[in-house]
Amino acid sequence: MKIRSKVLIIAGSDSSGGAGIQADIKTVTALGSYAMTAITAVTAQNTQGVKKIIPISKAVVEKQIKMILDDIGTHAVKIGMLHNSEIIQTVYKTLKKYKSKNIVLDPVMIAKGGAKLISDNSIKNLKKIIFPLCTLVTPNIPEAEVLTGYSILNKEDMIKAAKKILSMGPKNVLLKGGHLKNKMIFDILATKKGIKVFKKRKIRTKNTHGTGCTLSSALATNLSQKRNIIKSCKLSLKYVDKAIISAPGYGKGFGPLNHLVSLNLKNINV
Ligand SMILES: Nc1ncnc2c1ncn2[C@@H]1O[C@H](COP(=O)(O)OP(=O)(O)OP(=O)(O)O)[C@@H](O)[C@H]1O
Ligand SMILES: [Mg+2]
Repeated sequence: MKIRSKVLIIAGSDSSGGAGIQADIKTVTALGSYAMTAITAVTAQNTQGVKKIIPISKAVVEKQIKMILDDIGTHAVKIGMLHNSEIIQTVYKTLKKYKSKNIVLDPVMIAKGGAKLISDNSIKNLKKIIFPLCTLVTPNIPEAEVLTGYSILNKEDMIKAAKKILSMGPKNVLLKGGHLKNKMIFDILATKKGIKVFKKRKIRTKNTHGTGCTLSSALATNLSQKRNIIKSCKLSLKYVDKAIISAPGYGKGFGPLNHLVSLNLKNINV
């Protein structure tokens, strides 16, 4: 199979392989593209929780991005957690300098347990300088609540918040609905042309480690392969759904997805 495009991933490492850079590389690869990485933090974690986070310095983050963009180049960029304002500034300056396109930001700021992972000042900077560079921003519900100051309890609240986040500068917003306690999941896409609601059944499972990382990488990959925003959302949400359904059930906590679900591995011995 021919490699279809190149995707740069700027994110943290998850030692358990279910989220972060590891989920991102698996997703980009399983959807047919070439993954490159700038690592922003190393975490020690498993399916039961995060034990340690070691941030990487801004100089090292910048160097990784520059080495990639000076040489190989990229068709899309997926940005995961940027843990402080210095890193946010560096990523902003570097991507702007190289005029990077198809930037997808997963604005990770709240841990599964509800704790804020980045400071108020970092959130302010993320909105002010990174959002306007982005083709797509993909907050979950708690993140959208922090970004807008609204409380989000249903689909209508989600639509209102998605529109508000769109007004902050990104070209498109996909507000993820995994956190509402509903039988159905609504993922809301806000574009300059209007709102599109993607609706699906919520799968009853604890294997949801890294759904957000996997979705944003799938979105960056689909955009890098020249699909439009609606088609990219449709295909990426379907990929995450299938990867949850076929999850291997590893670990004692929130288990990883099956990133290989898109592959036909009959020809594994080439
Ligand atoms: N139980 C589920 N059943 C079906 N789809 C799901 C389920 N949980 C999550 N998803 C899908 O995964 C996407 C991302 O999930 P979610 O809203 O939980 O994001 P997130 O909170 O950023 O994830 P993460 O915990 O990885 O940061 C959602 O848009 C939804 O389509
Ligand atoms: Mg997330």
